[in-house]
Amino acid sequence: MRAVTANLFALLFLCALASVFYVWSALESRLERHKRRFSGSLHQGLPTDLSTKTFRALLAVPVAQRPRLGGRLEAHNLTDQTVSAGSPDYHVNGDNKRSARREGPVKLGSLVEDGIFWSEWLEELLPEQFTEEYAQAWRERARAHRVVKLEPGCGRISNQLATFADGTKACVRYGINADQVQGETLTYYLASLLGITNLPPLILSQLSGDSEQWDAVRARIDGLQWSDGAVVSLTKWVSNLTGVVTPAPLRPESNGLHPVLLELRNKTTAELLELMQWTDLIVLDYLTANFDRLVSNLFSLQWDSRVMERDTNNLLKTPRGDLLFIDNEAGLVHGFRVLNMWEKYHSTVLSSVCVFRKRTTQRVAELHKRRDSRKRLLELYRDSEPLSLELGFLSDEHAAVLQDRIDRLYKHILHCRGKYSQL
Ligand SMILES: Nc1ncnc2c1ncn2[C@@H]1O[C@H](COP(=O)(O)OP(=O)(O)OP(=O)(O)O)[C@@H](O)[C@H]1O
Ligand SMILES: [Mg+2]
Repeated sequence: MRAVTANLFALLFLCALASVFYVWSALESRLERHKRRFSGSLHQGLPTDLSTKTFRALLAVPVAQRPRLGGRLEAHNLTDQTVSAGSPDYHVNGDNKRSARREGPVKLGSLVEDGIFWSEWLEELLPEQFTEEYAQAWRERARAHRVVKLEPGCGRISNQLATFADGTKACVRYGINADQVQGETLTYYLASLLGITNLPPLILSQLSGDSEQWDAVRARIDGLQWSDGAVVSLTKWVSNLTGVVTPAPLRPESNGLHPVLLELRNKTTAELLELMQWTDLIVLDYLTANFDRLVSNLFSLQWDSRVMERDTNNLLKTPRGDLLFIDNEAGLVHGFRVLNMWEKYHSTVLSSVCVFRKRTTQRVAELHKRRDSRKRLLELYRDSEPLSLELGFLSDEHAAVLQDRIDRLYKHILHCRGKYSQL
């Protein structure tokens, strides 16, 4: 009898355990479903989860209405237009004399000319990083070579370090959806229109079964579950890069980067050259509404007071001091979709800067006056990238947002000029 009672109790105990386990699993899967639903609706409002993964989560927003290869280019007859801004005055980079002068003392005299522009002597010390000729040659080579290896080394698992048959490397970005690949690609071409050469050269490639380029790594692609036919971007891989902390004048506690900033006088030439590149970065990130760099740090300040002391997202530096603007997936398409949420941060960052590179400003002024940013970006993209039709272009709505941001930026530059050119 005792044995029967003991067995009965043991059975009851096991049943109780099983019920607890059942209820727990159900709760867990509901929580998981809830989380997925939540991240799927992030772009419609502010996230309540302010964890450090917020930005990755934002980038993970699925685009319900758009197929991965959707949004084909509309047929616009632009063949009679000429590209004037994307292919002009590039120099060969790697000038040793310039490198030595970068290390030298700051030249006496003005750091800023015509009120708001970095001085000519500073500009002369900073040649284009990837000249148009270099980028074009890289693109041709990258399209011609087979990929022989795909491995980790470019961040998330959806990015892979590719080795070409000639031993050179590139970062492949699969992108969560076509918007991200478009953001990466169109930001690259917009930078090119503006004469900003800090972005590594980029090509698109299609992972279709009949593409010889990917034959040698087909098993790896299957393992990564990359879908056949997807369009991915490849950017030149650069060695020996280090992180970059946001410079003091661009931190929220400072009064901004303006022409009469006394602090500028105490900077080394190398520091000034870095600041000069930061001003291009701020222009580009404002135009593309890219929140995944300085702006994301400002946002994170709400719960992480030391975030500005750490490296800035998606920004790297070569040993020579050239900044590399990588991972521009959040720009343009996604950035414009979540603009309501981020605009106050974008505006704050832009309004903190009143020194610019002359050439960038001239390009902005041109795009403002002609109001043809859509046409010129589309033309440059279409002429440079054979897969542009596959990947598609900005919607009319987003193209209008871009033009509007160019106009706002132009107004801000005029405001700075009005404020500082009389001094
Ligand atoms: N073009 C490049 N050349 C060299 N290294 C690169 C390049 N692009 C990316 N990397 C390396 O990969 C890292 C992550 O890059 P990226 O920001 O593009 O990916 P991610 O998936 O967003 O990663 P994370 O979430 O860590 O930012 C960089 O910090 C850098 O070390
Ligand atoms: Mg990144």
